[in-house]
Amino acid sequence: MEEGHLPVMTDEVIGTLAPQPGSLQIDATVGGGGHTERILEAASPDGRVLGLDADEAAIARVAQRLARFGDRLVLRRANFRELAAVAPAAGFAAVDGMLFDLGLSSFQLADRERGFGFRTGGPLDMRFDASRGVPASELLATLDADELAALFRRYGEEPAAWRIARAIVAARATAPVRTAEELAALVERVSPGNPRLRRRIHAATRVFQALRIAVNEELDALEAGLAAAVDLLRPGGRLVVLSYHSLEDRIVKRFIAAERRGCTCPPEAPVCVCGRAPRLRLVTRPSLTPSDTEIDANPRARSARLRAAERLAA
Ligand SMILES: C[S@@+](CC[C@H](N)C(=O)[O-])C[C@H]1O[C@@H](n2cnc3c(N)ncnc32)[C@H](O)[C@@H]1O
Repeated sequence: MEEGHLPVMTDEVIGTLAPQPGSLQIDATVGGGGHTERILEAASPDGRVLGLDADEAAIARVAQRLARFGDRLVLRRANFRELAAVAPAAGFAAVDGMLFDLGLSSFQLADRERGFGFRTGGPLDMRFDASRGVPASELLATLDADELAALFRRYGEEPAAWRIARAIVAARATAPVRTAEELAALVERVSPGNPRLRRRIHAATRVFQALRIAVNEELDALEAGLAAAVDLLRPGGRLVVLSYHSLEDRIVKRFIAAERRGCTCPPEAPVCVCGRAPRLRLVTRPSLTPSDTEIDANPRARSARLRAAERLAA
């Protein structure tokens, strides 16, 4: 197994995708390649995987680590919001399985050049794809207090959002907040409560999560990626999504519910006029969570929630 990032709920992911020899699968978030490796093993001898990641370093690492699979593994550095174009261009226009393992990898969290972790430190960049968009430090330097507070509230559900936003704007009159250490210290200073309480740590977690989601437009990308995934799945193909916080899980849950329902006509409409048929059905309980044994072995798994569905013929 890859040192550095332990794949989460691997047995459940493989059990649900059930990759067969000869099948085509897409891992939309290849990361350290842990899930991809297990999918390729399960789909031996000739199943193929298209692995995407927005992060160039992830693609380079996996290309080297999983080189033994030869042309059974196709890698593309791409955002999964572009799946509808990227997958057919790579020869994966109709697939049997699709995995999204959301958020960031332990490699990214540990990288001191990228500022993802308040314990790791480093310049506040936080982009999965450093060639696009703006770094987190720029948002902190340019948004006004209202915009910052809205961002921390919306993407971090942070109760002290306004207080933290005002402190950032006040601090930057002297010097902009440029590093993860500076931001963590500022949040620590202005969050309510005793500095020694765990609550403090949670405030930094929420603020860092909010910035990361905003910098990478993660929720918009997820909506676009899920929509493309259903279009790409063959009837009987499986969609598996691992999410790590309530904002992304809510999107996945609502998306699956809407695709199970099909019809989008208002409830008071006497007959269906939209003509939309259900395109997904559930294959597991509505959601699965990791076992206690897995959480003990890999604390990062503790917030994981797996949702899965199967494509119908419609
Ligand atoms: C939790 S890790 C995946 C770990 C992987 N399943 C494994 O077993 O090693 C999430 C990965 O998704 C990538 N990512 C996040 N959002 C993305 C997006 N919109 N498009 C492409 N990759 C994305 C991140 O760069 C990160 O490498």
